[in-house]
Amino acid sequence: MSPVSPAQSPVDAGLLPLTAEEGPSGLAVGGVPLTDLAGRYGTPLFVYDEEHLRSRCREAVAAFGPDNVAYASKAFLCTAMARLAAEEGLLLDVASGGELRVALHAGVAPERIVLHGNNKSEGELRTALTVGLRHVVVDSFDELDRIERLVAGEGLPPARVRLRVAPGVAAGAHEAIRTGGHDSKFGFGLADGAAAAAVRRAAASPAVRFEGVHAHVGSQVLDPAELADGAAAVARFAVESGASRLTVGGGLGVAYVAGRSAPSFAVWAERVRAAVRGAGWQGEFGVEPGRSITARAGLTLYRVGTVKRIAGVRTYVSVDGGMSDNLRPALYGARYEAFLPRCPGAARPLRARLVGKHCESGDVVIDDAALPADLRIGDLLATPVTGAYGYAMASNYNKLPRPAVVFVRDGAARVVVRRETEEDLFRLDADGPADAFAEDLAAVPAASPAGTAAASPAVRHRAAV
Ligand SMILES: Cc1ncc(COP(=O)(O)O)c(C=O)c1O
Repeated sequence: MSPVSPAQSPVDAGLLPLTAEEGPSGLAVGGVPLTDLAGRYGTPLFVYDEEHLRSRCREAVAAFGPDNVAYASKAFLCTAMARLAAEEGLLLDVASGGELRVALHAGVAPERIVLHGNNKSEGELRTALTVGLRHVVVDSFDELDRIERLVAGEGLPPARVRLRVAPGVAAGAHEAIRTGGHDSKFGFGLADGAAAAAVRRAAASPAVRFEGVHAHVGSQVLDPAELADGAAAVARFAVESGASRLTVGGGLGVAYVAGRSAPSFAVWAERVRAAVRGAGWQGEFGVEPGRSITARAGLTLYRVGTVKRIAGVRTYVSVDGGMSDNLRPALYGARYEAFLPRCPGAARPLRARLVGKHCESGDVVIDDAALPADLRIGDLLATPVTGAYGYAMASNYNKLPRPAVVFVRDGAARVVVRRETEEDLFRLDADGPADAFAEDLAAVPAASPAGTAAASPAVRHRAAV
């Protein structure tokens, strides 16, 4: 057998969900073959290994201690995910009224939810104070003003508060996800004295109970030293300011492609613990992992639709989703891998640009994908490690309905978010009632030239714009 070069080798098992296993019908996750899931639920499809999600939650709690881990729900949130995280003993970090609504709907107790955001509305703060969230991570003096107005004007109970600090340590894989530097929209700066002033103001305000400080330095951080540096800076400030609670944010990275590796929760905990102790902080501390809980638990299934070979240039392989279900490559230049679930162990000597179906040349899923040589139209293709910031950032660009999300476990699958339909695309459209689509189709005579069918008001309206 000829040796397979690393660039052509089969997909690395370290990129797959924990229960991934090859069987007679190809790769199965949670005991269900991926080809069956695509047949049953269609594509594109997000598939999450429930056992993997749960085991990541448990590992995090084991590393940091009970009540010290808040799942950063921005990475992936739906009712089932909020429930799963809560069942596994995690708090929930929400960053908007919408995320808060989902968490409450899922039955997560308000005292297990924390609220973030650099521009919280009065409505979001009112809900937080009314339902009694665990704490609010306050980001600005304007937010303190708003809380004071709500408490004084509406008689709401004082807010339990942690102040978000920009410690001057920025980490992370891309400028857009580095948050802890001085030049940041988030938090009170340490360097310019804003953080110290915020502590004085919060401690003196009857509208807040100042509990502690918080920092989140960035996301997709693979070097634990960077997370430890950020934690040390904020811990030092916590000690100086007499805070009784400390949160050091999320940010632990994951391996998206072979050859990269990410620290475990245990290593993250050990390094941060040493750093905060070194800074004089003797108490417990909280963390907010998002990506590191969900990314590798999830993968996306697509159907291959076209293969275009441009002699001397490259091959394009198009799938039935793209930047509307995975924005990260376009947004951050993020890299992924792909494989065919029917033959996960196959070598991947074919180099191709894997693209979506959107009207943008930048709609690239993988710039230089390694794929099996016998890839053909109609093949099911999977991109692993898409469980974080994929569905969460999904859109209806080009009016593509958003994919379904399924959780798989012990040989069974359950839909946790249903696929959008084309009718859903009219949901918010003032001139497009839910049944407009069927009416429009009925009104268009077969083979009539575009724009000439005027029987339905909706069609007339569209022709006019
Ligand atoms: C305040 C805060 N905490 C936690 C997170 C989660 O980060 P990650 O998904 O990298 O763990 C973020 C991400 O932006 C954040 O802003």
